[in-house]
Amino acid sequence: MSKLIWLHDYSVQIPAIDNEHKLLVELINEFSSSLDTHGAFQAKIVTESLKKLSCCIKQHFESEERFLMFNNYPDFDAHKQEHDLLLDQIKRFEQRFKTEKKAFNEKMLLFLKDWLVRHIILHDIKFGVYFRDKELINNFG
Ligand SMILES: [Fe+2]
Ligand SMILES: [Fe+2]
Repeated sequence: MSKLIWLHDYSVQIPAIDNEHKLLVELINEFSSSLDTHGAFQAKIVTESLKKLSCCIKQHFESEERFLMFNNYPDFDAHKQEHDLLLDQIKRFEQRFKTEKKAFNEKMLLFLKDWLVRHIILHDIKFGVYFRDKELINNFG
């Protein structure tokens, strides 16, 4: 399956957040590559790369939400709701993943690729523009 490529258009103009998004792109690609592996360790490799990806998504959401809250972002609740919806979806994926294996994985990969790009473009860039226009950015970390 084709790799997800980071484009400058995805930048929220906040380097710490861009770096976290770039890491998610990398981990989605790693998950994609794990699906192409073969042999006795395939299931283990796929399971581990999915675990790493879902863990990183959770950490990223926590850090982005800390940043938005700290900076009193007015759309915080709606933004967090978007994150929570994905976390619920990932939980369901992880459940199904245990029982359905390969047939389901490609579908899950496509969903995650699409979700990440759409969320960055529709929602994350929005707060990037908001903070840039207002020059409101405080510490991040
Ligand atoms: Fe977000
Ligand atoms: Fe984000």
